[in-house]
Order: sequence, then C-alpha cells, then structure tokens
Amino acid sequence: MSHSSTGSAVGPSPAELALPIDDTALADRLRTRMEAVEEALYHHAQGRTAYVTDAARHLLAAGGKRFRPLLVLLAAESGPHPEAPEVQTAACVVEITHVGSLYHDDVMDEAELRRGEASANARYDNLVAILTGDFLFAKSSELTSQLGPDAVRIQAETFARLVEGQILETVEPGPDEDPLEHYLEVVAGKTGSLIATSARYGAMFGGADPTVVAALTAYGELVGTAFQLSDDILDIASETEESGKTPGTDLREGVPTLPVLLAQASTDPADARLKELLAGDLTDDDRHAEALRLLRVHPAMEEARSYVVGRAQEAKELLTALPEGSVRAALEDFADVVAVRSA
Ligand code: IPE
Ligand code: IPE
Ligand code: MG
Ligand code: MG
Repeated sequence: MSHSSTGSAVGPSPAELALPIDDTALADRLRTRMEAVEEALYHHAQGRTAYVTDAARHLLAAGGKRFRPLLVLLAAESGPHPEAPEVQTAACVVEITHVGSLYHDDVMDEAELRRGEASANARYDNLVAILTGDFLFAKSSELTSQLGPDAVRIQAETFARLVEGQILETVEPGPDEDPLEHYLEVVAGKTGSLIATSARYGAMFGGADPTVVAALTAYGELVGTAFQLSDDILDIASETEESGKTPGTDLREGVPTLPVLLAQASTDPADARLKELLAGDLTDDDRHAEALRLLRVHPAMEEARSYVVGRAQEAKELLTALPEGSVRAALEDFADVVAVRSA
C-alpha cells in the first residue's frame, strides 16, 4: 500500500500492530490477519469510477492506527473460532464505518489535516468529502449484510449513536444539564459506540459465550470513551508530527472537551485570563495560541489524564469474565495503551 512520508509518523505501518503484544504467536497471528484486513479494505473502498475510488481510498492510504479492526481480531481470540471469515468482514465493517465518519467529521470541524495528509474536504471539497463518507457508509452496510440480520441491526444502532453523538456535540447543553454529563454523552455516542461494537463483533463472530460477548461490549464502550477523552487531551497537548492533525482544532471549533470543562470550573483567580479566553471567540489566531499555551500547562490536563486512566481501569476490571492468559493480557494492555497514548 502507499504510505506518505508524514503518514508513517502518524500510524503504524500495516506490518506493525498498534499494540505491543508479548505473546509472539498471538502477535504473529494478529499481524497476518491485519494484513488480510488491510488488503480487503482497499478492495471494499472501490467505486465504479476512478475518481470515486481515489476519493474513497484517500484516507485509507494516509494511514491510521487501525485500532478498531485490531480490537475485532483480538476480541475474537476470546472465542473458539478467531479465524472465522466473519471476523475479518466485521473488522473491515468497523474500519470503513470509522473512516466514513472521519470524512464527515473533518467537514464538521473544518479540519485541514488528517492522518498527516490533507483532509478530504481540503483535498477535494466539502461536497465530495460528505458524499465520499456516505459512499463508505454504504459500503460498510453492504458488507454488514454478509454477517446476518443481527449484525445489520447492531451496525444500524451503532451508527445512529455515532451520528447522534456528533450532532449533540454541536448543541449546547440544556440549562438544567451538567456540561460534563453532556460531554460524556457526546463521547460515548460518537466514539464509545463503534469501539463497543468492534469488541462485540469480534467476540460474537469468534464464537465466545454470551457472558464474554456482554463483558467485551461493556469493555469496548469504556475503552472507547477513554480513547476519545485521550484524543481530546491530545488535541491540546500533541503536535502535528505525532497526531497527524492540527492541534487546538476542538478549541477553535468551540468544542468543550474534558480539560476545558475542568479549567472552566476552576475558581482560582490565576485562571481568570484562561477562562476569559475560553468564554470568547477562539477563531482569532492570537487568542487561540494563548489559550492553547495556558491550557497545556494547566493542572486540568493532569486531572483529565487521571480521569482517563480511571476509565481504562474500570474497563480492565470487566475482563475478569475472560480466562487468564495472553488474550486477556493483550486486552488489558489495549486499555492501558488507549489511556496513555501519544498519537
Ligand atoms: C480519530 O480516531 C477519531 C476519534 C474517534 C478520536 P483514531 O484516533 O482512531 O484515528 P485513526 O484511525 O488512527 O486515524
Ligand atoms: C471525532 O471526534 C469522532 C468521530 C469521527 C465520530 P474528533 O473530532 O475529536 O476527532 P478528531 O480529533 O478530528 O480525530
Ligand atoms: Mg474532528
Ligand atoms: Mg479530536
């Protein structure tokens, strides 16, 4: 596959897993299956015309961590049939759904960079980016139909939650609503939902017991929430070379994330300037840079990080439904990596 020079700093190459796994036999199996997923993804992102194929493969080719398909494959290891063909199909379904959501998200956020490359809206335009996202959603639905009616229903429910989360992000919390509760609802919807479904599909199609399927679904929801919360921290803390995105995008777009909500709640007089900036227009470059600078050194960042570590810990506790062993250990590491990731 093609990889850009900047893209390689953003995500692992397909031969590399987004998670270090101690059990080498398990790691080898997952790597081989991820390579097959990678190839299948390109195949599924094919249109009838070169233009559409090019637009649909643009973000796939740019890289990405492939966390969701890896979680499908890893969760499938909790059952007796991790090699079932449905597992690979489900891995493609979740990544294609995710990538489609990125096309739409970059339009929403007016983002110019994604996976270290021009976003689709920057490379083409908003219209092409939105329709290419729709095209990818159609492709993931077509693929889900191969997995049977339960998977179709789960995919539809997941997608509804994801989109509703994205819509809620654009709406202020109601007067009686706690801003933090509102934000956590957004996060669970837009990101927790698809990561929960990734773990659920893996366990289901790997043939795991219903109790394990339920535990891994709940685990995925918590890990997904932690994943988005750390993404929000990285939006403030991380540089483009690491994230492949423009720092401070949430601030510029006025999306209040966990560190911002915590800083806004501060009663320390030393925070007066930051709070004034956060309450105003952050599309102004100077104000934006100052707010970003103040936030990066603010204790709210550490507070937010501890909150994320707490969610990851809760996720790990759910894994007691699985027998001890290298699969459970890898899922524990997965939660830890998500909580403390730097990209
Ligand atoms: C970005 O997801 C959008 C969020 C839900 C935070 P990822 O961080 O998984 O992005 P890629 O797939 O690695 O590019
Ligand atoms: C995006 O959240 C979530 C979805 C794509 C559903 P963000 O807006 O925080 O994601 P990034 O930071 O652009 O990747
Ligand atoms: Mg975004
Ligand atoms: Mg973000």
